[in-house]
Amino acid sequence: MNFEIKYKDALGRIGKLKTPHGTVETPVLMPVIHPGKQTIDVKKYGADMVITNAYIIYKNEELKNKALENGVHKLINFNGPIVTDSGSFQLSEYGDIDVNNREIIEFQEKIGTDIGTSLDIPTPPYVKRERAEKELEITLERAEEAINVRGNLMLNSVVQGSTFPDLRAKCAQIIGKMDFEVYPIGAVVPLLENYKYMDVLDIVMSSVQYLPPSRPRHLMGAGHPMIFAFAVAIGCDLFDSAAYILYAQDDRFMMPDGTYKLENLTHMPCSCEICTDYTPQDLKNMKKEERMKLIAAHNLNISFAEIRRIKQAIINGNLLELVENRCRSHPYLLNALRGLKKYKSVMEEYDPAYKKSAFFYSGPESLNRPEIYRHLKRLERLPKKDKLVLLPSFKKPYSKNIKNILLNNPEMENVDDLTGKLYKIHNSSDNDLEYGDSVQLAVMDYPFGIIPLEIDELYPLAQNEAPSCLDEDSKIFIRDTLSNYMKNFCEIIISEKVIKKFDLDFKFKEYEKPLEISLNDINKIEYIADYQFGEGSGKALFTGNINIIKSRKTGKIRHIHDGDVLIATLRASDGIFVLSMEGAKRLHNYLEYPQNRVVVNGDSEPFAREGKSIFAKFVIDCDINIRANEEVLIVNENDELLAYGKSLLNGHEIMDFNVGQAVKTRKGGK
Ligand code: GUN
Ligand code: ZN
Repeated sequence: MNFEIKYKDALGRIGKLKTPHGTVETPVLMPVIHPGKQTIDVKKYGADMVITNAYIIYKNEELKNKALENGVHKLINFNGPIVTDSGSFQLSEYGDIDVNNREIIEFQEKIGTDIGTSLDIPTPPYVKRERAEKELEITLERAEEAINVRGNLMLNSVVQGSTFPDLRAKCAQIIGKMDFEVYPIGAVVPLLENYKYMDVLDIVMSSVQYLPPSRPRHLMGAGHPMIFAFAVAIGCDLFDSAAYILYAQDDRFMMPDGTYKLENLTHMPCSCEICTDYTPQDLKNMKKEERMKLIAAHNLNISFAEIRRIKQAIINGNLLELVENRCRSHPYLLNALRGLKKYKSVMEEYDPAYKKSAFFYSGPESLNRPEIYRHLKRLERLPKKDKLVLLPSFKKPYSKNIKNILLNNPEMENVDDLTGKLYKIHNSSDNDLEYGDSVQLAVMDYPFGIIPLEIDELYPLAQNEAPSCLDEDSKIFIRDTLSNYMKNFCEIIISEKVIKKFDLDFKFKEYEKPLEISLNDINKIEYIADYQFGEGSGKALFTGNINIIKSRKTGKIRHIHDGDVLIATLRASDGIFVLSMEGAKRLHNYLEYPQNRVVVNGDSEPFAREGKSIFAKFVIDCDINIRANEEVLIVNENDELLAYGKSLLNGHEIMDFNVGQAVKTRKGGK
């Protein structure tokens, strides 16, 4: 296996792709090199990997002989990894080519390509289903043939299926089971040329969901920097650009927010050396060839800069914020951004559960982010209560500030200041329904909807910012969220401020009884544990002679002991529990197999017990619901607890990868 993941955010990853001519970091942009015609040294501008066309070489006697004699690296004068395409694109442009699948694969192997491509059929978008099915059959046959023909050549197998999501999914499933090193997504060029980004989204998502997460994916023909961030966020790792030169030939500057024509420029668009050394007038005065090279250099500069920006965003955990910004530069990109709503659940699966950076709300599209979807799902893990009390938002962290307002005042006179009048609604038409009076106290705010006060310091419920000026979509979102959540309670008591802020029009009655509310630390730690590990985990973890130790400086909960024995530490940065060995034992006792577990084989057991990190290749089973960056249990095949640590990948990735780390072990049980 040639690929491993180093960092993750949304469906995007920073990875290492190993090839015979070196290892490259993904996401990677491969400039297209025209064999024989190339005049620009792409390496100078930051290219670590390039793509060229084996069919063009094969068709030209002189190039062919040179390539067979000295190899493709000498031919195009590039000593890093080279991908070659097979002529499929020529097939789609000209309808016919005179080489077959076997020949072109053997040829690519002979000329020393790092990653070759089989002769897939790029079925255009919007064709009749019959054609897409027929051509897909051929693509699949050729994929199988490619596997049999190749020796050591690393291979691309391209996902086809036109604009039929089920055909893309079928193709991805079938070729995904064969042992290809890279899975490009093909035949999207006509869509990109026509700004059909929503269709690109549907094609990529229906492919990526069914491709093995352990292999990189190449969005073929996507060379404009305005799509890179979006494409990375939905799971694409490789890009190729012929655009840098094609646009330059046409006097067009590529920018992450669109394309600028030289004839319209009075000022240069960026800060690269071309844009600072020359004025638009200088360029207009030049000979075409000279000007073309300079604009191509700018196009490469800006494209590589965008890739770097994306990588940093993945490391920071704010890739989707970059995407939201980029997608505002074209209405059709915005359309695709809105389309992510359809894929919330897959996105949530691959998105790390805890991140370094705060959640910034940039507009209604942020409501579709995985953090919000995950929060609403995890609320279901909390202890069930009879009544729900909904307070308006105020200064974060809410629980810290409400304690002073509410609980220090036995008469609770100040409740009115905070909440205004209170109203209630019975969830049942039968008002005589018997129910207890256990209460969940929550703040109603956007974009996270309902925030029980016990968990209000947990990531990202405290680590988020949204404009105080509310938009209509958020109001609708809050109303939908509430009407869903209300079903879990017999009675809902709500502040008039919440009703007004979100224009709630449920049938409320005035609530006149006094309201007993208590927030205590035991509830708090139990809620956090339930939210983090699953229902009931809090009670299982925190039994015995519980002793809560707080920071003297901040007053925040730091450590939980049973007598003298540490169970868990609440991490200040994101408010989640990091277990101790005792905590891990208790959780292991409580949660049934395979919940929250990563299972390692016998060879790896001693290393795990020593506290060494867990490599994916030693994992034989795991809880498929694990997300990256969660606190997980490490067990052997008899479900004996060996160690505990932080997952670096999600459950599917842990199972699929067999290189790289899966769990960063915190402590082994020896
Ligand atoms: N280049 C752009 N699109 C495609 C495609 O679908 N297949 C191949 N092999 N190359 C491409
Ligand atoms: Zn520039």
